[in-house]
Order: sequence, then structure tokens, then C-alpha cells
Amino acid sequence: MGAGIAQVAARAGFTVAMQDVTEEFLARGMKAIDKSLQRDVDKQRLTPEEKNAIIARIKTSTDTAGLRDAFIVVEAATEDLAIKTEIFKSLDQTVAANAILASNTSSISITRLGAVTQRPEQVIGMHFMNPVPVMKLVEIIRGAATSDRTFAEVRSLTERLGKIPLECNDSPGFVSNRVLMPMINEAIFALYEGVASRESIDGIMKLGMNHPMGPLALADFIGLDVCLAIMNVLHDGFSDSKYRPCPLLKRYVDAGWLGKKSGRGFYEY
Ligand code: CAA
Repeated sequence: MGAGIAQVAARAGFTVAMQDVTEEFLARGMKAIDKSLQRDVDKQRLTPEEKNAIIARIKTSTDTAGLRDAFIVVEAATEDLAIKTEIFKSLDQTVAANAILASNTSSISITRLGAVTQRPEQVIGMHFMNPVPVMKLVEIIRGAATSDRTFAEVRSLTERLGKIPLECNDSPGFVSNRVLMPMINEAIFALYEGVASRESIDGIMKLGMNHPMGPLALADFIGLDVCLAIMNVLHDGFSDSKYRPCPLLKRYVDAGWLGKKSGRGFYEY
């Protein structure tokens, strides 16, 4: 998702510093950006020159020095509180004091991330949807300390990126995943209990509810590890058994069947 966010920002004319832990991950991100922009070149919605100019606006690095002059940093690391906490502590030391620190987290508390920094009023959730270049929504999450000014700046930035910002307060799973993930988890329970085949479950939801993808295909697309992490955040956050992750989801993640990115999930890729 980081690459998608970098692409959208560069396309809107911003200079982007894209940082990741290895050169290999950065190369993978740039390859995804190239492929995504090439679709638009092929459809004559972008010239090859414009594509090259967008790519040239993205500078990659494995260290955070390139982020020093950023007016906003959008973190899109693994969905893990300990990892994100370390990143926010480190960003707080590295980037300019007036910069905004945003997280693309799909469920982790913005209030908790803000609390590990010296600037909790400048910490906010900017939750993009996959595939980032296509999906219009950015869910904007206000932590307990997020200031009105930070919110207003991020709302206006989101609009400059060509996206639609919708606001919500900090709560486990926010709105998107509080509603989406229990539906996906329930679809996995239906498969686990032998209620129907994967094709029937997905077909029923696609054809019957007009969803673009069935819930099992969508889970594979999102990543089963991410789905499990989000269910665990809902389960812990609400202490309510209705959010317990399906044992089949846990088993797939244990097996390394993480969906599209690992070549196997509920489907084979
Ligand atoms: N980059 C750029 N463009 C892309 C793209 C990408 N990675 N993937 C698809 N597209 C474009 C295609 O070029 C095409 O554009 P045009 O119609 O303008 O020509 C359009 O998207 C549709 O693509 P396809 O025809 O190839 O395929 P499709 O019609 O099956 O659509 C899809 C693909 C957009 C992914 C669609 O299946 C869909 O909307 N799926 C649901 C996605 C969803 O629910 N996302 C949210 C997941 S939850 C999340 O992200 C947050 C979380 O916290 C878990």
C-alpha cells in the first residue's frame, strides 16, 4: 500500500520520499508503481512522458534521512502495534517539529500511536483502501489528541490527491474494518462449517449483493495475515466473542497461506 500511496501523491504533483527496510522491498514497490501507471499509458490516459515525470518525483531510500523535510509522513508498515510504535517514536525524532505523522493502519489505535510521540495533536489516521490508485476513499481517523488544524490539513491534502476523505473517531477497526472484517470472518466460518464451497460463498455475495469481489477472494487480496491481525484488534478492543477469528483463518496464516501475495490463500494464484 505504501507504493500505492507514493504513486498517488507523486501523480498529484508532490515530491515523495519512499522509505522501506530493504532495497528489495523498494524495488518491488517501484515495479508495482510502474505497472500501475503503465495501465494508464496503455489506455492513453497518461503519456509516457507524464509517467516518467511521476516516477522521477519518487526518491527511494532505506534510511529515514530523506523524510527530514517532509510536511507529512504516511506510515504504511506491517499491521503490528510494536513495529508501528517504534516507527512513530523514531519519526518523532527525525522529522520537522511541525510535520504531521499519519498512519495508514487499518485498525491500530491512533491515540496510542500519538501517545508515543511529543506531538500527539499532529498524529492522525489516513486509511487508504486497496488498490490505492483506484479506490476513492480515505478514512480519516482522529485520535483523542488530534487537533482540528491537523484534521483540516489532512482533509484538504486528501482532496488534492483526488480522493474523498470521510471522518471517523478512533475506535477498534474504525468504521471500514469494523463492518468489513466480521463479514469476511463470517464467510470463512461458512466455509469452515461446510455451509458452501468457496465459489458459492463468493458467488452469492458477488451476484446477490453486487460486491465487486466475494469475501474470500477479497480476504486473499487484502492478505490473510492482515485480516487476522484486524480480527485480533477487534476481539481485544471490544472484549466481545462475536469478533473471535475463525480457526480456519488462523490455520491458513500458520501455514503461510497468506493470499495473493504468497501464491495461495482461499484460492491459488
Ligand atoms: N493500479 C491501477 N489501476 C488498477 C489497479 C491497480 N493496482 N487494479 C485495477 N485497476 C484499474 C483497472 O485499470 C481498471 O480501470 P478502468 O476501469 O478505468 O479501465 C479498474 O481498476 C478495474 O480493474 P479490472 O477491470 O482489471 O478488474 P475489476 O473490474 O475486477 O476491478 C478491483 C478490480 C478494482 C480490485 C475490484 O475488484 C474491486 O473494487 N474490488 C474490491 C476492492 C476492495 O474492496 N478494496 C478494499 C479492501 S479493504 C482495504 O483496502 C482496507 C483494509 O484496511 C483491509
